[in-house]
Amino acid sequence: MAEEYLSITGGRPLRGEVTVQGAKNSALPLMAAALLCDGETVLTNVPRLTDVYAASRILNQLGCRSHIEDHTVTVTQKGLTGCEIPDADMRQMRSSVMFLGPLLGRAKRCIMTMPGGCELGPRPIDMHLDAMRQMGAVITEEQGKIICDAGKRLCGTRIPLPFPSVGVTENVLMAAALAEGDTVLTNAAREPEIADLAAFLNACGAEISGAGEGTVYIHGKPGLHGTEYCVMPDRIAAFTWLCAGAATGGTVSVRGASPPDLESSLTVLRAAGCRIGICGDRIFLDGSGALRRVRHIRTMPYPGFPTDAQAPVTAVLALARGTSMIEETIFESRYKHVGELLRMGADIRVSGSAAVITGVPALHGAAVTAPDLRGGAALAVAAAAAEGESRISGLRHIDRGYENFAASFHSLGCEAVRCGLH
Ligand code: EPZ
Repeated sequence: MAEEYLSITGGRPLRGEVTVQGAKNSALPLMAAALLCDGETVLTNVPRLTDVYAASRILNQLGCRSHIEDHTVTVTQKGLTGCEIPDADMRQMRSSVMFLGPLLGRAKRCIMTMPGGCELGPRPIDMHLDAMRQMGAVITEEQGKIICDAGKRLCGTRIPLPFPSVGVTENVLMAAALAEGDTVLTNAAREPEIADLAAFLNACGAEISGAGEGTVYIHGKPGLHGTEYCVMPDRIAAFTWLCAGAATGGTVSVRGASPPDLESSLTVLRAAGCRIGICGDRIFLDGSGALRRVRHIRTMPYPGFPTDAQAPVTAVLALARGTSMIEETIFESRYKHVGELLRMGADIRVSGSAAVITGVPALHGAAVTAPDLRGGAALAVAAAAAEGESRISGLRHIDRGYENFAASFHSLGCEAVRCGLH
């Protein structure tokens, strides 16, 4: 059976405006955090993504009632009955590890296997497990299963992170929210999604301060109640649409964004020759000027240039005059999209953590395969700029993180059609 693919015929400047979806990387931890709350939790502005459906399935398997209606997820937690996350769900997405903290905080026990998700190199969960051990969890491994036991209750403590990991920071916030005593987390991740999670937990009765800074303080509580909460905008999706405007020499705007979250990303697009305006929750990009190289970009923990923005901006710089260099410092192998961009005529050489991009006058359409979520988005950005038709397969990766992906390109005047299974 022929695989589904996205057909994009590029070569025209994109023009128009896209409304930004809710943030995948906030909605997923928020859904896990709902496990901590008694009663009903309502999350609004949740993007319709396969990862969201997967998280909802896990919640239902753990004994919650999770219901998705349009962009609203309602989670009713009347006492967990399970604490094991099935292997299939762990393999489907990395963020399943998000359930570790809430399960230990609430059910005092969690059984899981090694997480799957994008193949971005080894993605161990050693720091997650170490942080839980420091809070008193006893963790053993049996036949590939990781069994975590919090005993009577986790204990707050001082946790210095070896690396500002987003997921570990989120798991500690969730586990510490119901732990005994105070937790001080140092070298914490500062991504905006951390502050979104802390704001949600505080609305549920938690006592968290310093989220978004390097040191976060959590005072454990005996219990949390549900609340209604609106998920923050997706800064990476917003950046992706702006890259499509930049690569095609168009004028694209995004609305419903949170511009301060994209500061380092917009700086790079300005350096590449784009003119960018900001008005409230809207970001305007004019890519009609010539694209020029950006000498050196390093992906860094927030507020540095985000690793998730690396693939889309590579597609833009593939068409910039001159040679740009990107250094990927967060993940060990996050250049799988480069091989596919070469098939479209790009001139990119990868050595270790660096990608050297020599701009070419034009890209041409090709049959390419999305290697992972943001790599897939990069291929679509390149295809929108390339002359002729491209066919992008591997759409399951893209559907994990972008809602209405083809429709959004189409709304910007791009000939983009999702061709179904035959
Ligand atoms: C989150 O992943 C995001 N996912 C990723 O977005 C994002 O790329 C990443 O943060 C960095 O910003 C979600 O929020 C669901 P990390 P996470 O822990 O939490 C290593 C996307 O495209 N590490 O900050 O997994 C890890 O291997 C996705 O939307 C350990 O070694 O990222 C990586 O090299 C992709 N041991 C580095 O730290 C651990 O126990 C950063 O990982 C945990 C992480």
